Amino acid sequence: MMQKGLLVTVSCIFLAVFFMAHTANGDVSYSVPEEMKRGSVIGNIAKDLGLDVNRLSFRKARIDIEGNRKRYSDINLNTGELTVADRIDREALCGKKASCVLKQELVMENPLELHHVSVHVKDVNDNSPIFAKNVINLEISESADKGKRFLLEEANDDDIGQNSVQSYSIENNEYFVLSVQSNSLGEKYAEIILNKELDREEQKEVTLILSAVDGGTPPRSGTVAIHVTVLDANDNAPVFSQAVYKVSLPENSPVDTVVVTVSATDADEGQNGEVTYEFGHVMEEYKHLFSLDRRTGIISIKGPVDFEEETTFTLRIIAKDGSGLTSYANVVINVSDTNDNAPIIIIKSLNSPVPENASPGTEVGIINVQDRDSENNGQVRCFIEQNVPFKLVPSIKNYYSLVTTGELDRELVSDYNITITATDEGSPPLSSTKNVYFTVADVNDNAPVFKEQNYRAHVQENNKPGSSICSVSATDPDWRQNGTVVYSLLPSDVSGAQISSFLSINGDTGVIHAVRSFDYEQFKILKVLVLARDNGSPPLSSNVTVSVFISDENDNTPQVLYPIS
Ligand SMILES: *[C@@H]1O[C@H](CO)[C@@H](O)[C@H](O)[C@H]1NC(C)=O
Ligand SMILES: *[C@@H]1O[C@H](CO)[C@@H](O)[C@H](O)[C@H]1NC(C)=O
Ligand SMILES: *[C@@H]1O[C@H](CO)[C@@H](O)[C@H](O)[C@H]1NC(C)=O
Ligand SMILES: *[C@@H]1O[C@H](CO)[C@@H](O)[C@H](O)[C@H]1NC(C)=O
Repeated sequence: MMQKGLLVTVSCIFLAVFFMAHTANGDVSYSVPEEMKRGSVIGNIAKDLGLDVNRLSFRKARIDIEGNRKRYSDINLNTGELTVADRIDREALCGKKASCVLKQELVMENPLELHHVSVHVKDVNDNSPIFAKNVINLEISESADKGKRFLLEEANDDDIGQNSVQSYSIENNEYFVLSVQSNSLGEKYAEIILNKELDREEQKEVTLILSAVDGGTPPRSGTVAIHVTVLDANDNAPVFSQAVYKVSLPENSPVDTVVVTVSATDADEGQNGEVTYEFGHVMEEYKHLFSLDRRTGIISIKGPVDFEEETTFTLRIIAKDGSGLTSYANVVINVSDTNDNAPIIIIKSLNSPVPENASPGTEVGIINVQDRDSENNGQVRCFIEQNVPFKLVPSIKNYYSLVTTGELDRELVSDYNITITATDEGSPPLSSTKNVYFTVADVNDNAPVFKEQNYRAHVQENNKPGSSICSVSATDPDWRQNGTVVYSLLPSDVSGAQISSFLSINGDTGVIHAVRSFDYEQFKILKVLVLARDNGSPPLSSNVTVSVFISDENDNTPQVLYPIS
């Protein structure tokens, strides 16, 4: 690869004129590829400078370099050729410089003569593109939009020009396309462009192979793996396992009973996927009855749940992830009845006292029963267990009539203390009782009754007027005036005179007195009817016969009875 430089030609033209003054002039330049073997000929410098080969030794021709730097070439004193003395590595010598020139001098003595020798070192494609790391790690959020660009670290190729990196490529893939650009310095760099949106929940990472190729002949290439980690964006709200949780709950369930566990999952990771629970818009009083564990989603009982107060509860539950995305579900709690209410007996009306002559079937009271429970637990049966002449007759809904079943007799039973029992059909059943007390009112249905069927009394004649002869007594079991007995003599004639002129009776006591002195000789017996009457209205009465026998006394001197003539 010899090439005579321009300066060689020029110096030859002026040689004759400037020879003496310019013995040092006459420069030569060569162009060689790097990495030639030691001893390779760069060019015939003697010939190129028009030197006499045979005198080179004598003139002590040599290649000098400035300072202590390495000598890369030598002159062959026999042939005048410039040869490679040491390894010429362009990359080591010049790095990325576009031109790489080794500057040396050819020095001769007798007379002293100096020539500049420039060796242009040409690049050879002896380096491949190299990426700084084995793997390019990219973290891309799944929320990144299609079309977003991600700059890649470039590959380095120590070679220059065409031998440096000329193009990049990636294997075909679903998500990215490659874009190769040049900067203002003409250097190539690559970007990947998002061609399809990422979804971490579908694919957490994407691995691509990026190749960089230089323009040498043959080209050399280098590769690197691009490892894309898809970062979670909070693009998923929590999702409840059910939109509505329907549960049934017996009323009066104890505190801490678990009602239901709600559960929502969030496909995101870390904080974005951390779900907590809370009540949504829920009536304040419900919050006193139910508690919600914000971490576990367990809904449990906190206060008394009473079917009779509320049969259905709807709780709105919010699931929230760490970044505040939410979703909702409803919990519908159906409270089921338990038999926790005993029947209540209410006496709506009571006609006390009841007249004793009330006919069987007379309504004496109205009873109402209530049971707050539902269905069978609230079905009530109402009855009287005692043996009394009353019964309960079911009337309209939950009302009963208390009616008599037979004759009442105040004189036998004057009052009743009836126990009404109400029992529901729960299991076990609950029952309650109520006492109904009422009295029987008197009716004047008894006449006075004398203790004896008839009375007999004996009186000696010539008795003192006003003396008591005997007494009668009648009783009447009726109440007060209906049972108050008043005695009297029934008027009659005795020998043409009123009986009252012979006898009298104390109306209250029944003691009978003689009104006058009796005369056995006038009559021996007095018969009188005594009436016992009560004060009822109308009054009732009965009578009895009182026979008063008058006994003789020797109160007459004998008399001669003359025959009637
Ligand atoms: C809730 O109760 C109603 C009637 O009270 C009933 O029709 C329904 O089936 C119940 N639902 C559940 C989930 O028990
Ligand atoms: C009725 O009887 C009950 C129990 O047998 C008793 O407690 C109550 O005092 C009685 N009522 C009357 C007015 O006597
Ligand atoms: C006596 O009986 C009558 C009905 O014959 C009745 O109206 C009256 O209230 C009764 N008197 C008393 C004090 O019970
Ligand atoms: C006396 O009683 C009898 C029978 O009880 C009755 O038949 C009679 O009428 C009564 N006499 C009078 C005056 O009340």
